[in-house]
Amino acid sequence: MNVLGIETSCDETAAAVVATTGDARRPWRVLSNVVASQADIHREWGGVVPEVASRQHLRDICGVVDRALTDAGTPWGAIDALAVTQGPGLVGALLVGVAFAKAAAAVLDRPIVAVHHLAGHIESIFLEHGEIPLPAAILVVSGGHTSLYVVPEPGIYHLIGRTRDDAAGEAYDKVARVLGLGYPGGPVIDRVAQEGNDAAVDLPLPRFTGADRNPAPADLRTMLDGRRLPTVDFSFSGLKSAVLRHVQQRGRLLGIQGDASEGGVPLDRAEVADIAASFQRVVVESLLDRTFDAAQRIGARSIGIAGGVSANSRLRRDALARGARAGLPVFVPPLSLSTDNAAMIAAAGLRRLERGERSSLDFNAQASLSIQPGESTPA
Ligand code: KG4
Ligand code: ZN
Repeated sequence: MNVLGIETSCDETAAAVVATTGDARRPWRVLSNVVASQADIHREWGGVVPEVASRQHLRDICGVVDRALTDAGTPWGAIDALAVTQGPGLVGALLVGVAFAKAAAAVLDRPIVAVHHLAGHIESIFLEHGEIPLPAAILVVSGGHTSLYVVPEPGIYHLIGRTRDDAAGEAYDKVARVLGLGYPGGPVIDRVAQEGNDAAVDLPLPRFTGADRNPAPADLRTMLDGRRLPTVDFSFSGLKSAVLRHVQQRGRLLGIQGDASEGGVPLDRAEVADIAASFQRVVVESLLDRTFDAAQRIGARSIGIAGGVSANSRLRRDALARGARAGLPVFVPPLSLSTDNAAMIAAAGLRRLERGERSSLDFNAQASLSIQPGESTPA
Protein backbone atom coordinates (compact mmCIF):
# COMPACT_ATOMS: atom_id res chain seq x y z
CA MET A 1 0.00 0.00 0.00
CA ASN A 2 1.32 3.47 -0.96
CA VAL A 3 0.24 6.49 1.06
CA LEU A 4 0.76 10.06 -0.11
CA GLY A 5 1.34 12.37 2.88
CA ILE A 6 0.87 16.14 2.70
CA GLU A 7 2.01 18.66 5.31
CA THR A 8 1.48 22.45 5.25
CA SER A 9 0.93 23.37 8.92
CA CYS A 10 3.60 26.05 9.19
CA ASP A 11 6.37 27.16 6.82
CA GLU A 12 7.25 23.93 5.04
CA THR A 13 5.32 22.65 2.03
CA ALA A 14 5.93 18.91 2.12
CA ALA A 15 4.79 15.77 0.32
CA ALA A 16 6.00 12.19 0.65
CA VAL A 17 5.13 8.66 -0.35
CA VAL A 18 5.42 5.94 2.30
CA ALA A 19 4.80 2.27 1.49
CA THR A 20 3.99 -0.72 3.67
CA THR A 21 6.70 -3.43 3.66
CA GLY A 22 4.88 -6.47 5.03
CA ASP A 23 7.66 -6.83 7.65
CA ALA A 24 6.10 -6.53 11.12
CA ARG A 25 9.32 -5.26 12.73
CA ARG A 26 9.82 -2.46 10.19
CA PRO A 27 6.38 -2.03 8.62
CA TRP A 28 6.85 1.21 6.65
CA ARG A 29 9.37 2.51 4.13
CA VAL A 30 9.90 6.05 2.82
CA LEU A 31 9.79 6.08 -1.01
CA SER A 32 10.11 9.86 -1.29
CA ASN A 33 10.25 12.84 1.06
CA VAL A 34 10.12 16.31 -0.49
CA VAL A 35 10.22 19.50 1.60
CA ALA A 36 10.10 23.06 0.20
CA SER A 37 11.15 25.25 3.11
CA GLN A 38 10.03 28.87 3.28
CA ALA A 39 12.70 29.73 5.88
CA ASP A 40 14.53 32.06 3.47
CA ILE A 41 11.33 34.01 2.85
CA HIS A 42 10.38 34.41 6.53
CA ARG A 43 13.95 35.16 7.66
CA GLU A 44 13.54 38.74 6.50
CA TRP A 45 10.71 39.17 9.05
CA GLY A 46 12.45 37.33 11.88
CA GLY A 47 9.74 34.67 12.07
CA VAL A 48 6.86 33.05 10.18
CA VAL A 49 4.32 35.51 8.69
CA PRO A 50 1.07 33.49 8.42
CA GLU A 51 -0.33 35.24 5.35
CA VAL A 52 2.95 34.94 3.46
CA ALA A 53 3.14 31.27 4.45
CA SER A 54 -0.31 30.43 3.01
CA ARG A 55 0.42 32.17 -0.27
CA GLN A 56 3.73 30.37 -0.63
CA HIS A 57 2.09 26.98 0.09
CA LEU A 58 -0.33 27.74 -2.76
CA ARG A 59 2.56 28.42 -5.12
CA ASP A 60 4.51 25.30 -4.10
CA ILE A 61 1.98 22.56 -3.41
CA CYS A 62 1.50 21.21 -6.96
CA GLY A 63 5.21 21.09 -7.73
CA VAL A 64 6.09 19.51 -4.39
CA VAL A 65 3.48 16.75 -4.78
CA ASP A 66 4.54 16.10 -8.38
CA ARG A 67 8.13 15.77 -7.27
CA ALA A 68 7.21 13.37 -4.43
CA LEU A 69 5.31 11.12 -6.87
CA THR A 70 8.16 11.20 -9.40
CA ASP A 71 10.88 10.51 -6.78
CA ALA A 72 8.87 7.57 -5.45
CA GLY A 73 8.17 6.21 -8.93
CA THR A 74 4.47 6.11 -8.06
CA PRO A 75 2.10 7.78 -10.53
CA TRP A 76 -1.24 9.02 -9.14
CA GLY A 77 -2.83 5.68 -9.99
CA ALA A 78 -0.40 3.88 -7.64
CA ILE A 79 -1.48 5.94 -4.62
CA ASP A 80 -3.80 3.87 -2.42
CA ALA A 81 -4.63 6.47 0.24
CA LEU A 82 -3.89 10.03 1.32
CA ALA A 83 -2.93 11.49 4.70
CA VAL A 84 -2.89 15.21 5.43
CA THR A 85 -2.13 17.39 8.45
CA GLN A 86 -5.44 18.72 9.76
CA GLY A 87 -3.89 20.71 12.65
CA PRO A 88 -2.63 22.16 14.88
CA GLY A 89 -0.93 24.96 12.97
CA LEU A 90 -1.61 28.15 11.03
CA VAL A 91 -5.13 27.78 9.71
CA GLY A 92 -4.48 29.48 6.35
CA ALA A 93 -1.45 27.29 5.80
CA LEU A 94 -3.25 24.10 6.85
CA LEU A 95 -6.13 24.88 4.49
CA VAL A 96 -3.89 24.63 1.42
CA GLY A 97 -2.80 21.07 2.21
CA VAL A 98 -6.27 19.99 3.36
CA ALA A 99 -8.00 21.36 0.24
CA PHE A 100 -5.40 19.82 -2.06
CA ALA A 101 -5.54 16.41 -0.38
CA LYS A 102 -9.34 16.29 -0.25
CA ALA A 103 -9.55 17.23 -3.94
CA ALA A 104 -7.04 14.52 -4.86
CA ALA A 105 -8.88 11.92 -2.75
CA ALA A 106 -12.18 12.83 -4.39
CA VAL A 107 -10.78 12.69 -7.93
CA LEU A 108 -8.87 9.45 -7.34
CA ASP A 109 -11.68 7.96 -5.27
CA ARG A 110 -9.19 6.89 -2.59
CA PRO A 111 -9.54 6.98 1.22
CA ILE A 112 -8.14 9.94 3.12
CA VAL A 113 -7.15 10.31 6.79
CA ALA A 114 -6.81 13.60 8.63
CA VAL A 115 -3.69 13.55 10.79
CA HIS A 116 -2.65 15.44 13.93
CA HIS A 117 0.72 17.11 13.34
CA LEU A 118 2.17 15.85 16.62
CA ALA A 119 1.01 12.29 15.90
CA GLY A 120 3.17 12.71 12.79
CA HIS A 121 6.19 13.69 14.89
CA ILE A 122 5.59 10.71 17.22
CA GLU A 123 5.26 8.30 14.29
CA SER A 124 8.52 9.58 12.75
CA ILE A 125 10.21 7.47 15.43
CA PHE A 126 8.31 4.32 14.45
CA LEU A 127 8.86 5.07 10.76
CA GLU A 128 12.60 5.03 11.31
CA HIS A 129 13.00 2.35 13.98
CA GLY A 130 10.02 0.08 13.44
CA GLU A 131 8.28 -1.12 16.58
CA ILE A 132 10.05 0.04 19.76
CA PRO A 133 9.60 -1.31 23.35
CA LEU A 134 6.28 -0.06 24.78
CA PRO A 135 5.09 1.72 26.78
CA ALA A 136 7.30 4.50 25.50
CA ALA A 137 7.66 8.06 26.82
CA ILE A 138 7.84 10.26 23.74
CA LEU A 139 8.89 13.89 23.89
CA VAL A 140 7.79 16.08 20.98
CA VAL A 141 9.87 19.19 21.02
CA SER A 142 9.38 21.68 18.21
CA GLY A 143 8.83 25.34 17.37
CA GLY A 144 5.21 25.23 18.48
CA HIS A 145 5.15 22.43 21.06
CA THR A 146 6.95 20.83 23.94
CA SER A 147 4.76 17.89 24.87
CA LEU A 148 5.38 14.56 26.53
CA TYR A 149 3.28 11.55 25.54
CA VAL A 150 2.95 8.03 26.80
CA VAL A 151 2.42 5.53 24.00
CA PRO A 152 1.13 2.29 25.61
CA GLU A 153 0.35 0.63 22.28
CA PRO A 154 0.87 1.63 18.64
CA GLY A 155 -1.32 4.56 17.63
CA ILE A 156 -2.46 5.50 21.17
CA TYR A 157 -1.04 8.76 22.51
CA HIS A 158 -1.64 9.99 26.08
CA LEU A 159 -0.49 13.53 26.71
CA ILE A 160 1.08 13.72 30.19
CA GLY A 161 3.09 16.93 29.97
CA ARG A 162 3.46 20.17 28.10
CA THR A 163 5.07 23.54 28.35
CA ARG A 164 3.38 26.11 30.49
CA ASP A 165 4.55 28.93 28.25
CA ASP A 166 7.03 28.90 25.35
CA ALA A 167 7.95 25.80 23.36
CA ALA A 168 11.65 24.90 23.44
CA GLY A 169 12.07 25.68 19.71
CA GLU A 170 10.36 29.02 20.22
CA ALA A 171 12.90 29.83 22.97
CA TYR A 172 15.72 28.86 20.57
CA ASP A 173 14.27 31.19 17.93
CA LYS A 174 13.84 34.10 20.37
CA VAL A 175 17.29 33.72 21.92
CA ALA A 176 18.87 33.59 18.44
CA ARG A 177 17.15 36.85 17.63
CA VAL A 178 18.45 38.49 20.81
CA LEU A 179 21.95 37.33 19.90
CA GLY A 180 21.58 38.66 16.34
CA LEU A 181 21.86 35.16 14.87
CA GLY A 182 18.78 35.23 12.61
CA TYR A 183 15.93 32.78 11.94
CA PRO A 184 15.38 29.88 12.47
CA GLY A 185 17.37 29.94 15.68
CA GLY A 186 17.73 26.25 16.51
CA PRO A 187 20.24 25.17 13.85
CA VAL A 188 22.38 28.29 14.22
CA ILE A 189 22.53 28.15 18.05
CA ASP A 190 23.37 24.45 17.76
CA ARG A 191 26.30 25.31 15.48
CA VAL A 192 27.56 28.39 17.33
CA ALA A 193 27.29 26.66 20.74
CA GLN A 194 29.90 24.12 19.67
CA GLU A 195 32.56 26.83 19.97
CA GLY A 196 31.33 28.08 23.35
CA ASN A 197 31.80 27.29 27.04
CA ASP A 198 28.49 25.95 28.37
CA ALA A 199 29.33 26.96 31.95
CA ALA A 200 30.23 30.57 31.08
CA VAL A 201 26.84 32.08 31.93
CA ASP A 202 24.90 31.14 35.02
CA LEU A 203 21.31 30.71 33.80
CA PRO A 204 18.42 29.42 35.93
CA LEU A 205 16.98 25.94 35.43
CA PRO A 206 13.23 26.47 34.90
CA ARG A 207 11.25 26.47 38.16
CA PHE A 208 7.52 26.86 38.63
CA THR A 209 6.55 29.75 40.83
CA GLY A 210 3.83 31.67 38.96
CA ALA A 211 0.39 30.54 37.84
CA ASP A 212 0.09 28.02 35.03
CA ARG A 213 -0.81 30.08 31.93
CA ASN A 214 -1.53 26.94 29.97
CA PRO A 215 -3.61 24.82 32.37
CA ALA A 216 -3.63 21.09 31.90
CA PRO A 217 -6.65 19.63 30.12
CA ALA A 218 -8.71 17.05 31.93
CA ASP A 219 -7.15 14.06 30.21
CA LEU A 220 -3.75 14.84 31.72
CA ARG A 221 -5.16 12.77 34.56
CA THR A 222 -4.82 9.77 32.32
CA MET A 223 -4.99 6.28 33.77
CA LEU A 224 -2.79 3.48 32.51
CA ASP A 225 -3.15 -0.08 33.82
CA GLY A 226 -5.17 1.25 36.75
CA ARG A 227 -2.51 3.80 37.72
CA ARG A 228 -2.80 7.53 37.32
CA LEU A 229 -0.04 8.82 35.12
CA PRO A 230 2.15 11.55 36.59
CA THR A 231 1.94 14.99 34.99
CA VAL A 232 4.98 16.89 33.85
CA ASP A 233 5.44 20.61 33.19
CA PHE A 234 8.03 22.32 31.05
CA SER A 235 8.75 26.05 30.93
CA PHE A 236 11.13 28.11 28.82
CA SER A 237 9.99 31.72 29.00
CA GLY A 238 11.90 32.48 32.24
CA LEU A 239 15.10 31.12 30.72
CA LYS A 240 14.54 33.16 27.55
CA SER A 241 14.03 36.32 29.66
CA ALA A 242 17.18 35.58 31.67
CA VAL A 243 19.20 35.41 28.43
CA LEU A 244 17.57 38.64 27.23
CA ARG A 245 18.46 40.44 30.49
CA HIS A 246 22.02 39.10 30.40
CA VAL A 247 22.53 40.25 26.80
CA GLN A 248 21.09 43.71 27.50
CA GLN A 249 23.31 44.11 30.58
CA ARG A 250 26.42 43.07 28.65
CA GLY A 251 25.49 45.45 25.81
CA ARG A 252 25.11 48.36 28.25
CA LEU A 253 28.34 47.50 30.09
CA LEU A 254 30.32 47.34 26.85
CA GLY A 255 28.59 50.41 25.38
CA ILE A 256 27.31 48.39 22.40
CA GLN A 257 24.32 49.74 20.49
CA GLY A 258 21.58 47.29 19.64
CA ASP A 259 18.06 46.33 20.53
CA ALA A 260 17.70 42.80 21.87
CA SER A 261 14.11 42.59 20.66
CA GLU A 262 14.90 43.88 17.16
CA GLY A 263 18.04 42.95 15.26
CA GLY A 264 19.91 41.76 18.37
CA VAL A 265 22.86 43.09 20.37
CA PRO A 266 26.11 42.53 18.43
CA LEU A 267 28.34 41.03 21.12
CA ASP A 268 31.61 39.49 19.97
CA ARG A 269 31.65 36.02 18.49
CA ALA A 270 33.24 34.24 21.49
CA GLU A 271 30.76 35.77 23.93
CA VAL A 272 27.79 34.86 21.70
CA ALA A 273 29.09 31.28 21.56
CA ASP A 274 29.33 31.14 25.37
CA ILE A 275 25.79 32.44 25.82
CA ALA A 276 24.43 30.06 23.16
CA ALA A 277 26.21 27.08 24.76
CA SER A 278 25.00 27.99 28.26
CA PHE A 279 21.41 28.44 27.07
CA GLN A 280 21.52 25.14 25.22
CA ARG A 281 22.91 23.30 28.27
CA VAL A 282 19.96 24.46 30.40
CA VAL A 283 17.34 23.65 27.72
CA VAL A 284 18.70 20.15 27.18
CA GLU A 285 19.11 19.46 30.90
CA SER A 286 15.58 20.56 31.68
CA LEU A 287 14.04 18.56 28.80
CA LEU A 288 15.93 15.40 29.71
CA ASP A 289 15.53 15.66 33.50
CA ARG A 290 11.76 15.77 33.20
CA THR A 291 11.48 13.20 30.42
CA PHE A 292 13.68 10.62 32.15
CA ASP A 293 12.01 11.24 35.50
CA ALA A 294 8.55 10.73 33.98
CA ALA A 295 9.71 7.68 32.00
CA GLN A 296 10.97 6.06 35.16
CA ARG A 297 7.81 6.88 37.12
CA ILE A 298 5.52 5.35 34.50
CA GLY A 299 7.73 2.33 33.94
CA ALA A 300 8.43 3.21 30.30
CA ARG A 301 10.50 0.65 28.41
CA SER A 302 11.91 3.20 25.99
CA ILE A 303 12.16 6.91 25.31
CA GLY A 304 11.59 8.71 22.02
CA ILE A 305 12.44 12.30 21.13
CA ALA A 306 10.96 13.86 17.99
CA GLY A 307 10.18 17.28 16.46
CA GLY A 308 12.44 20.00 15.07
CA VAL A 309 14.48 20.43 18.26
CA SER A 310 15.31 16.71 18.25
CA ALA A 311 17.70 17.63 15.42
CA ASN A 312 19.82 19.33 18.10
CA SER A 313 23.21 17.68 18.33
CA ARG A 314 23.60 18.12 22.10
CA LEU A 315 20.07 16.90 22.85
CA ARG A 316 20.68 13.77 20.77
CA ARG A 317 24.08 13.08 22.30
CA ASP A 318 23.04 13.70 25.92
CA ALA A 319 19.79 11.74 25.52
CA LEU A 320 21.58 8.68 24.15
CA ALA A 321 24.23 8.89 26.92
CA ARG A 322 21.60 9.20 29.67
CA GLY A 323 19.62 6.36 28.15
CA ALA A 324 22.71 4.14 28.18
CA ARG A 325 23.34 5.00 31.86
CA ALA A 326 19.69 4.41 32.82
CA GLY A 327 19.39 1.20 30.78
CA LEU A 328 16.56 2.76 28.76
CA PRO A 329 16.83 2.67 24.96
CA VAL A 330 16.42 6.11 23.39
CA PHE A 331 15.07 6.52 19.85
CA VAL A 332 15.35 9.66 17.72
CA PRO A 333 14.38 10.09 14.07
CA PRO A 334 17.07 10.86 11.47
CA LEU A 335 17.53 14.56 10.71
CA SER A 336 15.37 14.30 7.55
CA LEU A 337 12.40 13.22 9.70
CA SER A 338 13.02 15.54 12.70
CA THR A 339 11.90 18.87 11.29
CA ASP A 340 8.54 19.16 9.55
CA ASN A 341 8.07 16.69 6.71
CA ALA A 342 5.27 14.72 5.11
CA ALA A 343 6.73 11.21 5.49
CA MET A 344 5.82 11.37 9.18
CA ILE A 345 2.29 12.46 8.21
CA ALA A 346 1.98 9.50 5.83
CA ALA A 347 3.21 7.23 8.67
CA ALA A 348 0.63 8.63 11.10
CA GLY A 349 -1.96 8.16 8.35
CA LEU A 350 -0.90 4.53 7.86
CA ARG A 351 -1.26 3.98 11.61
CA ARG A 352 -4.87 5.19 11.44
CA LEU A 353 -5.63 3.27 8.25
CA GLU A 354 -4.25 0.10 9.84
CA ARG A 355 -6.62 0.66 12.76
CA GLY A 356 -9.48 0.76 10.23
CA GLU A 357 -9.97 4.54 10.52
CA ARG A 358 -10.93 6.84 7.63
CA SER A 359 -11.96 10.49 7.47
CA SER A 360 -15.00 11.66 5.54
CA LEU A 361 -14.42 14.45 3.05
CA ASP A 362 -16.13 17.06 5.21
CA PHE A 363 -13.31 17.54 7.74
CA ASN A 364 -11.64 20.93 7.83
CA ALA A 365 -8.33 22.45 8.91
CA GLN A 366 -8.19 23.20 12.65
CA ALA A 367 -5.67 25.61 14.14
CA SER A 368 -5.94 23.91 17.52
CA LEU A 369 -6.79 20.27 17.34
CA SER A 370 -6.92 17.44 19.88
CA ILE A 371 -4.63 14.49 19.30
CA GLN A 372 -7.43 12.21 20.40
CA PRO A 373 -10.83 12.93 21.89
CA GLY A 374 -10.57 14.66 25.25
CA GLU A 375 -7.30 16.45 24.70
CA SER A 376 -6.97 20.03 23.59
CA THR A 377 -3.74 21.37 22.17
CA PRO A 378 -2.87 25.03 22.63
CA ALA A 379 -2.80 27.11 19.45
O1 KG4 B 1 9.01 20.46 14.11
P1 KG4 B 1 9.43 21.74 13.45
O2 KG4 B 1 10.11 21.66 12.10
O3 KG4 B 1 8.20 22.70 13.28
C1 KG4 B 1 7.19 22.79 14.23
O4 KG4 B 1 6.32 21.88 14.25
O5 KG4 B 1 7.27 23.75 15.03
O6 KG4 B 1 10.36 22.51 14.48
C2 KG4 B 1 10.93 23.74 14.17
C3 KG4 B 1 11.76 24.19 15.37
C4 KG4 B 1 12.28 25.62 15.23
O7 KG4 B 1 11.98 26.33 16.41
C5 KG4 B 1 13.79 25.42 15.06
O8 KG4 B 1 14.54 26.50 15.59
C6 KG4 B 1 14.01 24.14 15.83
O9 KG4 B 1 12.90 23.34 15.53
N1 KG4 B 1 15.25 23.44 15.42
C7 KG4 B 1 16.27 23.22 16.27
C8 KG4 B 1 17.30 22.59 15.49
N2 KG4 B 1 16.82 22.44 14.21
C9 KG4 B 1 15.56 22.96 14.21
N3 KG4 B 1 16.43 23.51 17.57
C10 KG4 B 1 17.61 23.19 18.13
N4 KG4 B 1 18.63 22.61 17.46
C11 KG4 B 1 18.53 22.28 16.15
N5 KG4 B 1 19.54 21.71 15.51
ZN1 ZN C 1 6.42 20.10 13.63
